[in-house]
Amino acid sequence: MNPVLAVDGLVVHFPARHGPPVRAVDGVSFTVAERETLGLVGESGCGKSTVSNAIVGLVQPTGGEVRVAGMPVRGADRRTLREIRAKAQIVFQDPATSLNPRMTVGAAIGEPLLVRGLARGRELRERVAALLTEVGLRPEHASRYPHQFSGGQRQRIVIARALALRPALLLCDEPVSALDVSVRAQILNLLVELQQSHAMACLFVSHDLAVVRHVCDRVAVMYLGHLMELAPRDALYTTPRHPYTRALLAAVPEPDPALQRAKPRVPLKGEIPSPAAPPQGCVFHTRCPMAIAHCREEVPAWRHLGETLVACHRAEETPAP
Ligand SMILES: Nc1ncnc2c1ncn2[C@@H]1O[C@H](COP(=O)(O)OP(=O)(O)O)[C@@H](O)[C@H]1O
Ligand SMILES: [Mg+2]
Repeated sequence: MNPVLAVDGLVVHFPARHGPPVRAVDGVSFTVAERETLGLVGESGCGKSTVSNAIVGLVQPTGGEVRVAGMPVRGADRRTLREIRAKAQIVFQDPATSLNPRMTVGAAIGEPLLVRGLARGRELRERVAALLTEVGLRPEHASRYPHQFSGGQRQRIVIARALALRPALLLCDEPVSALDVSVRAQILNLLVELQQSHAMACLFVSHDLAVVRHVCDRVAVMYLGHLMELAPRDALYTTPRHPYTRALLAAVPEPDPALQRAKPRVPLKGEIPSPAAPPQGCVFHTRCPMAIAHCREEVPAWRHLGETLVACHRAEETPAP
């Protein structure tokens, strides 16, 4: 069976006014199966949003291929692109900028159905009411405007609109990062429930490994435009193979103070290099506590270690957790 999403050797370079292009994404490959949630994690600026935007054709790939439900995004004619955009919906970080302030909530949620001629009049109002109920709001909220809602409620509205076309794939780009800590768990739980009840696949983009752990089946770790590791959730969190994954995990605060004190410190050296001038060899070598000469010279191949895919010359030497 076709995966819902197949990303194959994706490259996205942004031309710069001065100097070399920004290599935001530099050869990223993964698939997302039906009903699966894949987490895409990494520090700010590593290229996560660019991957997500390239999937729905919001940015043009420099190379590689993206297929949604088997349909190549690149070179798609208008009609296919419309179909792809119905099948793959994005929920962005900031609900304040995702909603038109002059449009009622009902009009915003119903717009995709109306524009495509899928529902109007009474049927449209009923579909909107059902969507509002599904995301934990009330049908009478349809006549209100976005500013009358809290941040968490606005993200529910954005999610309702994303569900209107019954997508096969939901792309969530930091969907709770702009929200108050107190409402994050509610929105995450809602996304998990809806992903199951709608039998959707999900690409869940986040800089926060603690968030991803609760919602994902597999996790892909990205650094400076490259994937470093891709593994089933439990394997990634209990037996991280890549030194970068270990460093990220070590930086996740542990709620229990005793465990927090016992945590290994894996300090990362220096700053993230510029994606306009990435290091030769393994892009992580300038900050890697395990780097050897070989790492500076040769790009590590993407290879299997048990259930894990990893790009590291020294992945077998993983210290015991
Ligand atoms: N439209 C753009 N033009 C130029 N550079 C961009 C553009 N979008 C993103 N970038 C750059 O590409 C890199 C990756 O950005 P992004 O995908 O937003 O990372 P993330 O979502 O992981 O924080 C960053 O260096 C960013 O500045
Ligand atoms: Mg981003």
